[in-house]
Amino acid sequence: MKGIILAGGSGTRLRPLTGTISKQLLPVYDKPMIYYPLSVLMLAGVRDILIISARDHVDMFRSMLGDGSRLGLELSYAAQDEPRGIAEAFLIGQEHIGDSPVALILGDNVFHGPGFSSLIHQAAARLDGCELFGYPVKDPQRYGVGEVDAEGRLVSLVEKPVKPRSNLAVTGLYLYDNDVVDIARGLAPSARGELEITDVNRAYLAAGRARLTALGRGFAWLDMGTHDSLLQAGQYVQLLEQRQGERIACVEEIALRMGFIGPEQCHALGRELGDSGYGRYVQETARRTPARAPESAVGSTAA
Ligand code: DAU
Repeated sequence: MKGIILAGGSGTRLRPLTGTISKQLLPVYDKPMIYYPLSVLMLAGVRDILIISARDHVDMFRSMLGDGSRLGLELSYAAQDEPRGIAEAFLIGQEHIGDSPVALILGDNVFHGPGFSSLIHQAAARLDGCELFGYPVKDPQRYGVGEVDAEGRLVSLVEKPVKPRSNLAVTGLYLYDNDVVDIARGLAPSARGELEITDVNRAYLAAGRARLTALGRGFAWLDMGTHDSLLQAGQYVQLLEQRQGERIACVEEIALRMGFIGPEQCHALGRELGDSGYGRYVQETARRTPARAPESAVGSTAA
């Protein structure tokens, strides 16, 4: 399975923070925002990942993450000139996707909760169409809102409904079979001039090939579009990390645990991070985590 992180947009609601920097590179407590969606794809076993950002920001991402080989990944980069919709990711990324299934994640989403990686693995293993993840929210009007039947099949989906039929927001993690590229090619721009991800999902819904897994209580799904939500996400991460002594979305640790890199490489990455708490954590993790055989990617082709 191939991966795409969509990290474009102009971050207008976060100005002046986003005056010269991409929103998805802003700090969320101890690491840049993009580490969080990147770690989700890594936990799903996805190693061949395209990062799409605004043209002015592509070099910032590239200089931070490089070709990904240090983490045992294969990273590539592409520009989205204007925010013409989330579904444009499949057109920009069509060469990258090739004939594989694909996982798309929004670059400003944090997912954290028990059993999440096995949940994504299960969804990817049964992928036949599209797999969405829903999260109960108290303000569903702000999101794509889905309804599911007892078997987890999506039965209705509306973008930003005035009268939501459920409280299940569709989160920014989407798994698709390869038909998604053709579906995206056939989309017409919406009233707001965008290629809407909800229109892609509605095409799968119409074909009876869309599922939605609800993420339950005790799970955190956060997006970071405003100053308050950015700070709250940072405080959430700080609270859990300080309480448990374990880091959330530490990509070096995940690369090690997934078998993408060995302990020596992980330790070297930690040393390069110097004497920060994060750097010491990476070194300590490398010392205490036994090497493990490389994990196979979900779905089909891994890098
Ligand atoms: O966050 C989940 C929601 O994301 C879903 O429930 C909705 O169904 C989906 O339409 C989307 O709604 P938003 O209103 O939150 O989308 P927004 O335009 O804010 O874009 C979400 C992120 O994607 C944001 O960080 C910017 C980035 N983006 C967005 C567009 C439209 C891009 O990189 N390029 C784009 O063209």
